[in-house]
Amino acid sequence: MKAKMTVNKNFTIAKVDPRIYGSFVEHMGRSVYSGIYEPGHKTADSLGFRNDVKELVRELNTSFIRYPGGNFLSGYNWEDGIGPRAQRPRRLDLAWKTVENNEVGLHEFCGWAKEVNAEVNMAINLGTRGVDAARNIVEYCNHKSGSYYSDLRRKNGTEEPFAIKTWCLGNEMDGHWQIGAKTAEEYGRLAAECAKVMKWVDSSIELVACGSSARRMPTFASWEATILEHTYEHVEYLSLHSYYGNQKNDLKTYLAQSVDMDNFIKSVASICDYMKAKKRSKKTLHLSFDEWNVWYHSREKDENNEPWQYAPPILEDVYNFEDALLVGCLLITLLKNCDRVKIACMAQLVNVIAPIMTEPGGDVWRQTIFYPFAHAANNGFGTVLRHNIESPTYDCEEFEKVPFVESVAIHNEEKNEIIIFAVNRSTDDAVEFEINLQGFNPKSVTEFCELSGHDIKATNTKKSATVAPKNAKGATVQNDKLELPLAPLSWNMVKIALN
Ligand code: AHR
Repeated sequence: MKAKMTVNKNFTIAKVDPRIYGSFVEHMGRSVYSGIYEPGHKTADSLGFRNDVKELVRELNTSFIRYPGGNFLSGYNWEDGIGPRAQRPRRLDLAWKTVENNEVGLHEFCGWAKEVNAEVNMAINLGTRGVDAARNIVEYCNHKSGSYYSDLRRKNGTEEPFAIKTWCLGNEMDGHWQIGAKTAEEYGRLAAECAKVMKWVDSSIELVACGSSARRMPTFASWEATILEHTYEHVEYLSLHSYYGNQKNDLKTYLAQSVDMDNFIKSVASICDYMKAKKRSKKTLHLSFDEWNVWYHSREKDENNEPWQYAPPILEDVYNFEDALLVGCLLITLLKNCDRVKIACMAQLVNVIAPIMTEPGGDVWRQTIFYPFAHAANNGFGTVLRHNIESPTYDCEEFEKVPFVESVAIHNEEKNEIIIFAVNRSTDDAVEFEINLQGFNPKSVTEFCELSGHDIKATNTKKSATVAPKNAKGATVQNDKLELPLAPLSWNMVKIALN
């Protein structure tokens, strides 16, 4: 099969915001406890954080981590996680029906994030709380000194402000499962007042308003329009959440789900632009796709969880090769929309629907989905180029005319190179992929690696990294043309040095 992509140096989409390679740590399951944090583990540091996990998080190179939830957030008192650890309360977490002992809180998490080179994206509880707690946490984190909360931070051991730049105004407030769920009117008013006051405390912060918790929500679109009536001029981003799964075991439809992500992004961007027009605003709102991933393997098992356990294994999806291919398609889709999507968080980071798994007291390992994310987060920087892909297509149950080849090209001006990510969705056919790099002067292929040749249901375990990338051969450049062989069912990353 043949496919062709043409890019031109002068036709660009936007520069990649590094926060597009964000992640998410929620206080739930084994994400924090026996995930990133396990005092007594042989690699634990003096505060109890696992060094072996830190190493893999650094390798993944996530730039930005949303914290502390998620559904957990809507019942969380941030003050429970500060001050002497021995005096912190044990609380019932009604979102996941577990027990939270608050051993890890704001200071510990921000310190850990610094060590893994990630910026913290703090979320505030708008389920059970409101303006008062919102202004106080900003003062605690970002005000230098000389006020009650800033001095309390200093007393608790952190002299300099945490200087947290990006804040989420609640989580999935439209969902009936949310503690303190709200109507769009209720949430819109509350979010706008919190935003106003938070920015009075620190005018340099940026805010994310809650969009619908999924596109399938009956209130989708009207929720966005209503809450933006209240918040448009107060916030910089609107959130999107979406999880995908292959419940029907239909590979063709499954791998086409990035088309759904693309449609979702375009719909939300349109609603934002409608509000911009309605308000005669000069501001263009950006998008924060702050929860996305594959989530379905663990759902059945989680229906029978015993309530009120501490750090039980929940949402522990074990990912296979086909999941890695879809994650590759989703990453390409986010990049292709990087003029609007400035923030995206793969949900989550460790153990809970995560690229990294740990065993309590034991090993840490990379799930299959670790690899496309790490490739993108370590290499996908620069300016995304507009493209014109000519690829054979297929029809499937949910989508029509799905291109077999999904791809994006990025021009890294600083490194003087082009990075191309590509997925071949075909189960049977290799693709001769021709890429015309108009206006560039390509010198040579410096790297070509792929994830291919695995059983679609193959998974990684602590003992075997069955699904892992390998170096590929056969990519050549001549004049301004790159010839790239794409194996059937493959994720590919290519780097081309420019003259
Ligand atoms: O990431 C798991 C959960 O999915 C989050 O807590 C919630 O925001 C979403 O429904």
